[in-house]
Amino acid sequence: MDDQTFAQPATALRDARSVVVLTGAGVSAESGIPTFRDTMEGLWASFDPQQLATPEAFARDPELVTRWYDHRRLGCAACEPNAGHLALARMEREICALGGSFTLLTQNVDGLHTRAGSTDPVELHGSVMTWRCSQTNRPVTPPPPPEPWPDFPPISPAGAPARPDVVWFGEALPETALERSFAALESCDLLLSVGTSSVVYPAAGFIELDAANGARTIEVNPQDTPMSSNVTWALRGKSAQILPRLIAEAFRAQ
Ligand SMILES: NC(=O)c1ccc[n+]([C@@H]2O[C@H](COP(=O)([O-])OP(=O)(O)OC[C@H]3O[C@@H](n4cnc5c(N)ncnc54)[C@H](O)[C@@H]3O)[C@@H](O)[C@H]2O)c1
Repeated sequence: MDDQTFAQPATALRDARSVVVLTGAGVSAESGIPTFRDTMEGLWASFDPQQLATPEAFARDPELVTRWYDHRRLGCAACEPNAGHLALARMEREICALGGSFTLLTQNVDGLHTRAGSTDPVELHGSVMTWRCSQTNRPVTPPPPPEPWPDFPPISPAGAPARPDVVWFGEALPETALERSFAALESCDLLLSVGTSSVVYPAAGFIELDAANGARTIEVNPQDTPMSSNVTWALRGKSAQILPRLIAEAFRAQ
């Protein structure tokens, strides 16, 4: 991809006053975080994530479900943020230093944006790194990685099973996360969609919403998605390579 490809989106990024970035599993691919499907290896090969990531599965077999999520928690903790996560943290600093506003919305549950230095990302699907009481919703702190929970399911101080603070199939997205997303999208003049297949709603609708509001849109993905034909610029490639180039081009004179 030549420098010319980056010129227009980089200028749009530098000139934007209100930037929203939406990320999905692809942004963490180069950190070695497996996709949903790929987590089902080894001991977990015979399970279907759609059968484990539900409130019904947790009610039926809390030991199995919490073991699987602890396996994912420790897997995420063992990975490091990649150049794409770091570039998004830098993007936030650059935009804010110019007096603009920046909001990072992520569908990822791996906590890597925070570890890369992003401030307060909106975690639309929660996080496997934080857990809560299934009855009171009060936070329950897991042992520091690489320590697993000593018991499955872990039991909260209230005496109920603890669960990961993620959004399971059939559950509503956290209200505060949705409110923050729509507030940011309302005033946004540039939306970047990075490493998401753009099929999971409501996040998938964000591009349509922003395009309808007149915002410009950039997609970063090695492949076409159902949203590719709606975006202003589609940058084809891996986020760990594309994002550092885009940011270097946008902010090189700063
Ligand atoms: N890291 C995580 O936290 C994690 C991992 C797996 C699944 N999930 C969950 O699974 C759901 C799946 O939706 P989704 O859209 O996030 O993921 P998805 O798996 O549906 O799509 C991933 C997208 O990333 C693209 N991609 C692959 N490698 C890439 C790279 N190096 N750089 C940029 N893009 C790349 C793929 O082409 C694809 O379009 C989400 O709800 C998410 O919560 C999260």
